[in-house]
Amino acid sequence: MCGIIGYVGPDEVVPVLLDGLRRLEYRGYDSAGMAVLGHDEIGILRAAGKLGNLEQKAYHEPLHGKVGIGHTRWATHGAPTEANAHPQTDSGGQVAVVHNGILENYGRLRHELLDAGVELQSDTDTELIAQLLGREEGSLAERVLAVLPRLEGQYAVVAVHQAEPDVVVAFRNGPPLVIGLGEEENLVASDVTALLHRTRRVVYLENGDIAEIRRDALRLLDVSGGEIERAVDTLVWDAARVEKGGYRHFMLKEIFEQPDAIRNTVRAYLDQERRGVNLDGLGFSREELVRLRRIHLVACGTSWHACLVGKFVLEELTGLPTEVDYASEYRYRTPLVGDDVLVIGVTQSGETADTLAAMEMAREAGALLATVCNVRGSSAWRLAPSQILTQAGPEIGVASTKAFTTQLVAMVLIALGLRSARGLADETDAELVSGLQRLPQAVERALAIDDEIFALGTEMLADATDSLYLGRGILYPIALEGALKLKEISYLHAEGYPAGEMKHGPIALLQEGFPVVAVVPGGTNRNKLISNLMEARARGAAVLAVADEDADEIADVADLTLRVPKVHSLLQPVVTVVPLQLLAYHVAVELGLDVDQPRNLAKSVTVE
Ligand code: F6R
Repeated sequence: MCGIIGYVGPDEVVPVLLDGLRRLEYRGYDSAGMAVLGHDEIGILRAAGKLGNLEQKAYHEPLHGKVGIGHTRWATHGAPTEANAHPQTDSGGQVAVVHNGILENYGRLRHELLDAGVELQSDTDTELIAQLLGREEGSLAERVLAVLPRLEGQYAVVAVHQAEPDVVVAFRNGPPLVIGLGEEENLVASDVTALLHRTRRVVYLENGDIAEIRRDALRLLDVSGGEIERAVDTLVWDAARVEKGGYRHFMLKEIFEQPDAIRNTVRAYLDQERRGVNLDGLGFSREELVRLRRIHLVACGTSWHACLVGKFVLEELTGLPTEVDYASEYRYRTPLVGDDVLVIGVTQSGETADTLAAMEMAREAGALLATVCNVRGSSAWRLAPSQILTQAGPEIGVASTKAFTTQLVAMVLIALGLRSARGLADETDAELVSGLQRLPQAVERALAIDDEIFALGTEMLADATDSLYLGRGILYPIALEGALKLKEISYLHAEGYPAGEMKHGPIALLQEGFPVVAVVPGGTNRNKLISNLMEARARGAAVLAVADEDADEIADVADLTLRVPKVHSLLQPVVTVVPLQLLAYHVAVELGLDVDQPRNLAKSVTVE
């Protein structure tokens, strides 16, 4: 979603803002802009489309100053035009504002301002904030305090005022904002990837906080105007990890980072002797764990697929009934949650609005609350008393890959933690621990599939407009994930289905050459899936299979097989998804598409 950067310091601000916006591009956007505090007035540049358009403008209409704010906009209110791009200003051009989120009382505020004779220049809710600030008196922070009670909804706002040329003010309710404390300079951004290369010292703003940021000072206020303090955190991520490092795309780099990401996640949670996990009871007390009867997993998108796999893992290993919900559905139904339920919000970014709302709801209902999250310090991280950090490092490609496989690993680690706390541990645990330790090598082998095989696979998929991904058992969610990867970056329609469901509808799609991607499970499910593939072949479908090395029988039904190593059945999803990620990647590259920033998608979905 939208990206925000603000800077106060000794450097010329335009290159700083453009650089920050480049680093935020991965979040997804459709226009961009910046405001620079100059000597006489606030200079504004805005452009529809990619950042290159804004850079062109900055070249032809140079702005100079040391204080400014920048934004990449993912359209909500109003089309992605230049007029609707941020920053938005008040009518007098004295206040400029960038904003992530949605004002829910947009309609009412708009009418109030129009009735008061204000001439609005855009269709955005953001302009309303600028207009409201412009109509108040006092310093910018005082104006914010006066306007805050009138804003309903989710917002992260950064503003500047011509009368205070050395100040940037930031405030939030919902979408995140983080302050970067540098040497003789301070910054604010919507996420740490825009700050990492300048500083590691950060302060996360809480909902309701107002930050008055100067070059050499940071003042934090609460909604009543009282001064408050927030802890300074030190980031552990390395700036080099948000660079492409020689790869053509972030997505490809991140796919190849999976062995390390998994290794780091496993290492972080194995105990000293490497015989079990150090996640005993996830930090919950004995009494809380004794009461525990059920688990609810809530998430969106790819993280939701990790939860579907998690259901298999947690039920098999802990015996606790486990439900999986889309967070956007969970928050609006009446789930049966109390203090005997462990609710786990699974989220790469830790900022997904629906997942956070579902977690908040669970907390209010008295549930034990945990999160599987990839970003230390994110909102989910701070909301949940129990946190399992996937150690994937920054994920920049919009299509989630290494965060997903580490989430799958986290599910196994959580199950092992619950087993040890509930006295269930036996030889299965040792087997899984050793399987987890060997998993990075297995993923390395899955990554070694020949490019020529991918070329054949790409040919099968790239020429078709639709395809069907089939799986069974614990690999059924991997079929869903494979289909999602293909559709989000190649814009080709793909449906994931449990193979047993094919005869109940989707078989009608099959005809000569229709691609069926089969995610071949082990055990008794294997023959069942092979029978389903026979039925598909009988109708002319072209079958591309992903199967473990032992699945010889697949050669009789598949036109092309991508082989992965055979690992413990509960870990098999981790290796099996790898060729599907690569396949989607190769198809998107073949079609000449923007792999890292697919159209309409945002990396961090901070509105519902
Ligand atoms: C797909 C993808 C999305 C995210 C979803 C949830 O590749 O990345 O489907 O998984 O938006 O995001 P997080 O995990 O950040 O809550």
